[in-house]
Parts: sequence; C-alpha cells; structure tokens
Amino acid sequence: MGKPKPEKNKTKDVKPTKTSVKKEDKDMSYLPSKYMFLFVGILAALTAVILTNDDLKLYLVKLTPMGSQPLETIMNTANSESSSQTGPGSEPVVSPEPIDPTPSQATKKSNNDEKESDDKKMKKKDYKKSSITNKADFKLRKQLDEADDLLQQRNVDGAIRLYDDVLRENSKSPRALFGKGMSLDILAEQKRSNQLLGEAISSMDAALRAPNVPAELLRIISEKLAERQTFRGWNHKAAQTWKYMSDKYPDNVDYKRKLTVSYLTMGDNVMAREILKNILDKNPKDGFSLVHLGFILKTVDLNYEEGSRLLQEGIDTQEHGTVDGRFYYHLGDAYMRINRTDMSSKVYKKGAELGLFLSEHQRSLYNAETKLTGRPWWTPEQTPYGRYLAMLEKNWETIRDEGLSLLDQKTGGFLPEEENLREKGDWKQFTLYQRGKKNDVNCRRTPKTCALLDQVPDATSCTRGQIKFSVMHPGVHVWPHTGPTNCRLRAHLGLRIPEGPRIRVADKTKTWKEGKFIIIDDSFEHEVWHDGTESRLILIVDFWHPDIPLQERRTLSPI
Ligand code: LMR
Ligand code: MN
Repeated sequence: MGKPKPEKNKTKDVKPTKTSVKKEDKDMSYLPSKYMFLFVGILAALTAVILTNDDLKLYLVKLTPMGSQPLETIMNTANSESSSQTGPGSEPVVSPEPIDPTPSQATKKSNNDEKESDDKKMKKKDYKKSSITNKADFKLRKQLDEADDLLQQRNVDGAIRLYDDVLRENSKSPRALFGKGMSLDILAEQKRSNQLLGEAISSMDAALRAPNVPAELLRIISEKLAERQTFRGWNHKAAQTWKYMSDKYPDNVDYKRKLTVSYLTMGDNVMAREILKNILDKNPKDGFSLVHLGFILKTVDLNYEEGSRLLQEGIDTQEHGTVDGRFYYHLGDAYMRINRTDMSSKVYKKGAELGLFLSEHQRSLYNAETKLTGRPWWTPEQTPYGRYLAMLEKNWETIRDEGLSLLDQKTGGFLPEEENLREKGDWKQFTLYQRGKKNDVNCRRTPKTCALLDQVPDATSCTRGQIKFSVMHPGVHVWPHTGPTNCRLRAHLGLRIPEGPRIRVADKTKTWKEGKFIIIDDSFEHEVWHDGTESRLILIVDFWHPDIPLQERRTLSPI
C-alpha cells in the first residue's frame, strides 16, 4: 500500500538532491509570470519532493513568508531610542535663526568649520546610529548618513554612488555593503531583475560577514538577507545565514529557531530535528521546539504517541507561534489515531474556540477571505451548478466505461492515496484536472470524460481542487480527516457502487448511487469505509464554493 495523498499534489519520497536545489534556484522570484503566488506553489512543490507529506508541505508554506519591512526604514530608525531623546533635561527646542539663502563664501566656510569641529567632538555613543555603526563606519558616518537618506528618499542611484564612495575607502564597511544591497534590492524590484536581486543578496551577505559588524546591524542584516534569499528560492542560503548567526550567538535561541524553519523549508528535517533537540536539551519547555519536533514526529515518523505528547506540551505553553491551526490539527489527529478520541475532540474544540478552525468539525486551514456558507452536505438545488451536475449524470455511463477501462489496463495510471489518510486498505486515484489545470496525459486516456468536463468551467477552473476517478477496494478505512480548504464543494458521481462502502461527513453517513451525485463540503470532518467485496468507483468533481466572488477565485493561491 502506498502512503496517503490524493487530495493535493503528488509528493515523492526523495532525498534533497542537487537537481531539486537547482530547480528551486530557477523557479523563484522575478522570473517572468512566476511571481508571488507561485512562490507559495513552488515552495510547496519543492518541499514536497523531500518530505513525502502534504501536511508538512502546507505547514511550511504557511510558515515561511516573513514580514518584509521596508528596509530603508529600518536603517534610519535603527537607533530610534537614542535618536528621540527629548526627555527631561534635554535642550529646549528653539527656532533657528532664518538662514540667508545665499551665504557668502566666508560664512559658508565658517559654518562648515563649526560643523566639522562639532562632528569631531561628537562621541560615538551620542550618534543616533551608533548601534549599527562600527569604529571605521563612524569615521565615514557623514557619507553613510547621506547615502541612507537618499535610500530613504528612494533615490537609489544616488545612494549606490555614495555607498560605493565609502566602499572605495573601506571595502568592508558593513553599513555601505548593506545599504548598497538594499538599494540594489529596490532596483531589482523595480526592474523585476533576478540578476540585480542576486547582486543585492551578495552585497548584504558581504555585509553580514564583514569584520566588526555591530550586533544590532547583524540582526537587521540577517533578517533582510534571509528574507530575500528565501524569496529568491535560495533556502539553503537562508539556512547558511541563520547558521552563521547561530554560530555567532550560540545562546540566542531565536536564531536557532529561524535556522530550524529554514531547514524545514528546505525539507531537511534531519537537521531541523537536531537543532530542535539541541534547544530542548537546554530548555525542555521551549514551546516552539516542542510543537515543531512534535509535528515532525507526527507527520514524518508517524509516531503518534510521542508526537502528541510533544505537541500537547508545546501547545500548553501558549507561547507565541504555538497557537497555530496546524499544530492543533495534527495533535487532534494523532490522538484520534491512538484511540484517545476524547482528547482529540477536546483539542478540536479548543482550536475552534481560539479561531484556528472554522468550527470543531470544519478544520480546513486554507480558507476563503469571504465568509462562506458552511454545510457538510449539499443538494444540487443548493448550488448554482444544477445543469452541469445533470449533464454529467446524463452521461454517467460513458464516464463509468472510461473509468473502468482504465482499471482494466495493467498500466494503470491510478496512484495510491499518499496522504496517510488510510488506516487500512487500497484506495487509488486517477487525476484529470488539478489546481485548475487539465492533465493532458491522463485526459488522452479518458477523452470523452474530459470533453464533458471541459463544459464545466466552475469545476475545471477550480484552482483549489481536482477532478479525478477514485477507486476504493474492499477493506478500506479512511481515518476521519478534513480537506485543506473550504473553497470547494466536492461532488461525487457514483459509477460502480457495490454493497459496502459508506461515507460520513460531520454527523451524517450516506452511500453513493450509480449515476447520481452526492455533494459534500470536504472541509468538514469525513470518514470512509468499504466493508464490501467489490471495488467502488466514483468521479470526484471539485467545484468552486458558490459563495466565493469571482475576483477572489482568481487571486487564491492554488492548492
Ligand atoms: C474523501 O474525499 O476523503 C473520500 O470521500 C474520497 C473517496 O474516494 O471516497
Ligand atoms: Mn477526503
């Protein structure tokens, strides 16, 4: 029996390879037409290559994006505390004398002198950017501040020129290298250029690794650098960034956590585990590490006992980052699988109470912005898709015959469910459309069915669903589970329905009828059994949930 996995996309159990890294490098960021949304999809696909488990994949997708702060702002507010010293005892603010717009040479000179001597006198600690300025940079602070100002004004070319001037004097100036990197990053964005993005990353990386970088600047650089590396798809480089920081600050748990996330994003759960264990050795109550290690044990090792123990302990800390639907989902699932159903429903209730789930029974995690009608079972009349459903029902025998002919062929094409949803038994699927795209290869083998489906745009365009034949052999039990999203309604057309199979969605259990649709919302908990003696065949057709506005359908990232 294969591992689980029908509802989303295929995942193969492969070790990280050079090829996967290469693909990763190639597919990211500013490549034409592969912009932000694909970031999520590609990240998912790549992670999938390594992790075998869709849930982990989805976990990562959600976890990875880091808030991207406008960097120029960070630079200019780095030392905001000392720059806003206007407390008691500070000089009263006096209006300056009006300045002669055309000062004589002499005045100018004397002004300058005054300023210069002021500057010389200035102690480093009084400098508003002292926390990001090392000794050498302090000497070059005028140029650096000017460059930072230009950057803040988005005069990127001007800023780069000034940073380059500084770099000619000190090629290892951390502030100039970083400022230049940020300027290049803005240019990269304006020009949608990966080349420039690469240069931006190199410059920031050089800043990070320069000698004598103040701690505060290191912190700022590492955040921005890792975020840009991740955006570029260079997850291994992001990991190197956090590794560098972790080695430099061995007591800083935050860097270790970030390194863990990078490893997980790369699919390297071996390294992730090692760091998590390392954190837990020192602090066995670290919530972040408990939930993450528990999550890995549960989803990768399928160790439900130990996984649930750690997940529960982690969640109980209520630490930032532990209150997350993925941890609650998998904790409840782990409990269910070891027969602790009372604990399972307690966790689901709590998750719903915390707003992590739509309800105790509707536990999809990738939901529409719009509030949708949530109903486990639908009738055709409750949807706007009646005529499509009727058309497919009318042609059910044609569809059935094509499905059965596939089953006859030894070459198959049906793939085992690989999401670890089954307790036991043999359940396979043959996909015709997924993520709003036709599978041309498979459709060539069932041309009539695909021609019929081509007339059903609300299903074929559903980027958060699939259309597939599903064959379930006798002896199957599918654990209670929920689909990943509430954005679709799942219509099942009965094609070959012997005695024996049944499906529970929320609190109602039904079976299929040949030539008839049942319609479920698979974001509600459902469970399937087949206690009969012959195989069951259905066509699963995902439609957009009718309440989702067209505009939102277009912008939802595919699942
Ligand atoms: C499910 O969506 O989990 C199942 O109902 C699919 C199937 O083939 O019965
Ligand atoms: Mn399901």
